[in-house]
Amino acid sequence: MMRTHRAGELRRDHAGATVAVCGWVATRRDHGGVVFLDVRDAAGVVQVVVDPEAPGAEVAHRVRSEFVVRVEGEVRPRPEGTVNEELPTGEVEVAAQRLEVLSEAEAPPIPIGGRQEADELLRYRYRYLDLRGDRLQRNLRQRAVVNRVLRRVMDGHGFVEVETPMLIASMPEGARDFVVPSRLQPGSFYALPQSPQLFKQLLMVGGFDRYYQIARCLRDEDPRSDRQFEFMQFDIEMSFVDGEDVMAVVTEAAVTAAEEATGELPGAVERITWHDAMERYGTDKPDLRFGLELVDLGEVFAATEFRAFQAPAVKGIRVPGEGGVARARLDALIERAKQLGAAGLVWMRVGEAGALDSPVAKFLSEAEQLGLVDALGAGSGDLLLLVAGERAIANRVLGTLRLDLARPPVDEGGLRFVWVVEFPLFEGLDDEGRPIPAHHPFTMPHPDDLELLASGQGEELLAARSQSYDLVLNGWELGSGSVRIHRADMQQQVFTALGITPEDAQVRFGFLLDAFRYGAPPHAGFAIGVDRFAAVLAGEENIREVVAFPKTQSGADPLTGAPTPLDPAQLKELGLQVVKRPEAKKPKS
Ligand code: AMO
Repeated sequence: MMRTHRAGELRRDHAGATVAVCGWVATRRDHGGVVFLDVRDAAGVVQVVVDPEAPGAEVAHRVRSEFVVRVEGEVRPRPEGTVNEELPTGEVEVAAQRLEVLSEAEAPPIPIGGRQEADELLRYRYRYLDLRGDRLQRNLRQRAVVNRVLRRVMDGHGFVEVETPMLIASMPEGARDFVVPSRLQPGSFYALPQSPQLFKQLLMVGGFDRYYQIARCLRDEDPRSDRQFEFMQFDIEMSFVDGEDVMAVVTEAAVTAAEEATGELPGAVERITWHDAMERYGTDKPDLRFGLELVDLGEVFAATEFRAFQAPAVKGIRVPGEGGVARARLDALIERAKQLGAAGLVWMRVGEAGALDSPVAKFLSEAEQLGLVDALGAGSGDLLLLVAGERAIANRVLGTLRLDLARPPVDEGGLRFVWVVEFPLFEGLDDEGRPIPAHHPFTMPHPDDLELLASGQGEELLAARSQSYDLVLNGWELGSGSVRIHRADMQQQVFTALGITPEDAQVRFGFLLDAFRYGAPPHAGFAIGVDRFAAVLAGEENIREVVAFPKTQSGADPLTGAPTPLDPAQLKELGLQVVKRPEAKKPKS
């Protein structure tokens, strides 16, 4: 038998047992002839003691870090005073009776284990060594728990896991497609799916009323801390339901997975409309782990004589206890607010009895000063920050300052889920004044806004709400979904608002519209980004730390060298010729 136990599993109960364990040598210490080896495997680390008289003792002098060894020996309690409380195996050691080298190793080019930061590129180049460390071992195992729980909850509700294709036609999902040339039809290309969206809707037409999949998705957008080219979605779709049913099942799955993966019970899952999220937090992904809410001061300054506050909106936040902040810090905040698009930032230090110390205090009436202190709930020692201007800009600027000033690290302050509902149907107007869909064009409008949709023009349409919802965790957008349009007349109405003619629609999504002609059930769905979910649960700021083989910022894989040029023969077979793009930028790394 190669091994009887995993090294990291040995405990006091095993004392007296003869065992065989295998693993990597994490450290080797030579104490005047007695050699101590820390042997690491997937379960942890155990100390091995090789006595100079033990058979094979000479092998111990030859082993180096990261050699792969097999040890046979007796588990014994560690001598008094040498117990290592920090190690789960710290009460025991293995007295080696036989030591074999299974594989030698060169000195590793990056440190293994812990959180010590090796150069990023080296970490990806030698990812298999990075993976041996605690951090990735823990993160990937925790991620596997998330997947397992999500599956279990879905199975418990009678969902059917169905796989959808990877080679598909280009579809409208918002991001840029990755494409794959067809050999059998030179000149034609497949797109890799940005999500299983349209296939899951077709599954509903096909009579599967509860579908899920942990699906690989691909989007050619610049990688960032919360974005990779390829990522996984926990994707669901349901028929004969409304948005509430979808949110209920997603809440159960997400909360159960979070709790089982971290051992921590998430706080109550809250709900907020998109409009309120923008007004109170200045963002559609509010981080509810801390306060500092944005307060509307429009009423306080409704009749103000102070020019800067005669604006469509005046909003403020109260930063408790920061009244004593240095002038240089305030100047930096003003600079930041301007960079974010504000005309300026007004600061006020609150003194005794609500007295305001601020360059603009003299321009404000006493009633305004009192009203301001009251509206913000300010007290002595607080700092107040105010932005006046267009409502959207004031909200965005203060929302960002709120995060800059008080956002805790991702692994502090608990897990705070919040549903953001009633997103607008459109996120803005394009150059030709046509609305741009905020989700995808198959999202059901809010029932109260159907009339607006039918009769509205241009800017007016931006007030139309949709039946879509996002799930946010600690300020990260975890996932989104919506009730879908399942009737051709309403779909055409939305297309018309989007400036898509029936002919265009037939060309672009004809297969879906065709399917809907044959009896489409009302349906709705959702998708959680598993990488983001796993990252927040692991307390990581970058999803690369929960991905086994990630890409760098420039989209490269330093391990395999991807992307690489194609062999001329391969190009020929595909009927492709590479033409240099004059504007092509050289990637940074
Ligand atoms: P959406 O485009 O909002 O919705 O994507 C859902 C979730 O997927 C994750 N995600 C990503 N994660 C890592 N890297 C990326 N590049 C990336 N892009 C998206 C996010 C996001 O919230 N088909 C719809 C869902 C539906 O309506 O059912 C969709 O894909 O966590």
